Amino acid sequence: MAALNLSNSLIFFVFLFFFIINNISSINAKRYKFPKQKLTHLHFYFHDIVAGPNVTAVRVAEAPTTNSSNALFGLVAAADEPLTETPDRSSKLLGRAQGLYASTGQKETNLLMVFNFVFTEEKYNGSTVSVLGRNAVFDKVREMPIVGGTGVFRFARGYVLAKTYNFDLKTGNAVVEYNVYVLHY
Ligand SMILES: *[C@@H]1O[C@H](CO)[C@@H](O)[C@H](O)[C@H]1NC(C)=O
Ligand SMILES: *[C@@H]1O[C@H](CO)[C@@H](O)[C@H](O)[C@H]1NC(C)=O
Ligand SMILES: *[C@@H]1O[C@H](CO)[C@@H](O)[C@H](O)[C@H]1NC(C)=O
Ligand SMILES: *[C@@H]1O[C@H](CO)[C@@H](O)[C@H](O)[C@H]1NC(C)=O
Repeated sequence: MAALNLSNSLIFFVFLFFFIINNISSINAKRYKFPKQKLTHLHFYFHDIVAGPNVTAVRVAEAPTTNSSNALFGLVAAADEPLTETPDRSSKLLGRAQGLYASTGQKETNLLMVFNFVFTEEKYNGSTVSVLGRNAVFDKVREMPIVGGTGVFRFARGYVLAKTYNFDLKTGNAVVEYNVYVLHY
C-alpha cells in the first residue's frame, strides 16, 4: 500500500513537473512557421581603389615591418567600395562593400575580410549581407562565407566567389567580380 502511494505521488510529481515546464515554454516562446528558403544569386563588380582620385580604401594601421614585407603582412585598411553592375566604375551602382581588411599572410598575400555588403537597389535597398573570410588575392577564385544578413537577407547563410577582373600592379587598384549565393527566407 505504501509502495503504491509512493509511486502514485511520484507519477503525480512527474506530471506536475512536465505541466509546469510546458506552461513555462508556452509563456516564453512563440513558434512561427518559416516560409520556404530561397537561394538568391547576385553579381556585381567591387572597386578597391587605393591610389589616385577617389580612393575607396585607406590604410589605417601597419606594423613597423609591413612595408618591407612582400605580402604587406600587418597592413589594416578601412574600405567603402562601390559595387557596380559592370567593371566600369561609372556603371550603375548596386550597393557598397563597407568593412575592413587585414593582411594576415606572412609569405603570400592573403586578407582577412570583414565586410558588410549593403545594397541600394529595388527590393534589396537597405538590406545587407555580412562576409567574413580569407581572401588569397592572387588565387584565381576566392571563396568566402556569408555569416549573416539583414532586411530581405535575415537569417542569411551562403558564400561569395571573388575573381579579380583587373589588378594594377603599379597602383594596387583592383576591380573584382563577385558572385554571391545567399540562402534566406
Ligand atoms: C500557465 O501560466 C499562466 C500564467 O502563470 C496561467 O495564467 C495559466 O493558467 C497557466 N496555464 C495552464 C494551462 O495552467
Ligand atoms: C571622383 O569623384 C568626383 C566627384 O564625385 C567625380 O567628379 C570624378 O569623376 C571621380 N573620378 C573618378 C576617376 O571616378
Ligand atoms: C609605408 O608605406 C606607406 C605607403 O607608401 C606609407 O604611407 C607609410 O608611411 C609607410 N610606413 C612606414 C612605417 O614607413
Ligand atoms: C533606398 O532607400 C533610401 C532610404 O530609405 C532612399 O532614400 C532611396 O531613394 C532608396 N533607393 C532606391 C533606389 O529606391
